[in-house]
Amino acid sequence: MDKIRIHGGHPLSGSIKISGSKNSALPILAATLLTREPCTIHRVPDLSDTNYMVQILTHLGAQVERASGTVSVTADKVESLAPYDVVRKMRASVCVLGPLLGRCKEATVSMPGGCIIGDRPIDLHLKGFEALGAAVRVEGGNVKVFAPRLRGAVINLRGKFGPTVLGTDNVMMAAALTEGTTVIEGAAQEPEVVDLANFLNKMGAKIEGAGTRRVIIEGVAELHGAEHDIIPDRIEAGTFLVAGAICGKGITVERVEPGHVEAVTNALGNCGFRIESSAHSITVSSNGQTSPLELVTDPYPGFPTDMQAQMCALLSTNDGISVITENIFPQRYMHIAELKRMGAQMQLEGATAVIQGVDRLFGAPVMASDLRASAALVLAGLKAEGVTEVSRVYHIDRGYERLDEKLSELGAHIERVKGT
Ligand code: EPU
Repeated sequence: MDKIRIHGGHPLSGSIKISGSKNSALPILAATLLTREPCTIHRVPDLSDTNYMVQILTHLGAQVERASGTVSVTADKVESLAPYDVVRKMRASVCVLGPLLGRCKEATVSMPGGCIIGDRPIDLHLKGFEALGAAVRVEGGNVKVFAPRLRGAVINLRGKFGPTVLGTDNVMMAAALTEGTTVIEGAAQEPEVVDLANFLNKMGAKIEGAGTRRVIIEGVAELHGAEHDIIPDRIEAGTFLVAGAICGKGITVERVEPGHVEAVTNALGNCGFRIESSAHSITVSSNGQTSPLELVTDPYPGFPTDMQAQMCALLSTNDGISVITENIFPQRYMHIAELKRMGAQMQLEGATAVIQGVDRLFGAPVMASDLRASAALVLAGLKAEGVTEVSRVYHIDRGYERLDEKLSELGAHIERVKGT
């Protein structure tokens, strides 16, 4: 297995272009199953997760072509069964359920398991399908949803931990081809949900309110092919901004939507970094002083859970005592034990991390446990004295396009060591 080796302590400078959003691309690729006609999606990031989605679409019978960021899909005929072997590699495979149900009126997809960031139930997705009139069976590790006929309904998708992003996507996709009007209350407001709704509307869907807590979908009989550009990845942008804060002389992220990362830029501003935004770029620089921060993760427009680990890495060397509370995935703290091995002082109290800033971190061999935790370890490695080796790099490759190469372009001393 490959490793990433970082010689820490080298300042970063310059600018970097942000890739298309992974979490937009996955449901949008799944949405191409809703039509027989060709769809063309641009700015699809080259990641193992988007490759898995392409494999799933192909397995389901779609013809898929991929060339330098553009994926063309023609799902002339589709199967409604996605077995374990095909979907087990990626939890987000669950977002083919909605389009398959909408188009075929039935779908069988292997049930996603939990993952390292916690229990990942899909009860809210299923509740939404049932409200549309589908029956749901869980048998042999598969979830089967089927309905001779679907009809619009009013559905509240808010759960114990707030709204669900992929649950909102799934119900929106099924409802796009459902007779009557569906109203999703307690909908996720994430920019990725808006991007999916925009794509569906280009396909002929009638969706209003995406980006608010209430989404209204007037079902149509058929959708047609469409072309779409994926929005910039706000979590990749946030990760590079933290990289710039952690050891930058001033770095600029380009091709970003500043509004989408406001919670992150506000947090960085509040703990002592200078932020300058223009229409599609953001520059972060240090003014030599840092301060501690109290941070709570929340659904959009709150501070994203997908940036929590990276902030732990940053705050580990900020002055004073910082406190982070994880409200979305309370167990998403696997990075803490690894950061401590690099000299960070942090303690977990339930879903809250208390971080006592230290003067320096020290390079160490560390193990990535999930996508964002791995990013946090790379960021800590940029700051640490000496050499850090991050193993299980496949987690990074799931969600960051060329992270090591992009950091290297900014001046980091970072290399990928091929596994034997
Ligand atoms: N939840 C339920 N029941 C459900 C669905 C979710 O209780 O049926 C709970 C979850 O356990 C969690 C909360 O609701 O506590 C929010 O989960 P959500 O459904 O919004 O997560 P998701 O849609 O499965 C997406 C992203 C995640 C990101 C979360 C939260 C994709 C492919 N994944 O997951 O991204 O953390 O929203 O913003 O869009 C990542 O990119 O590293 C990543 C994990």
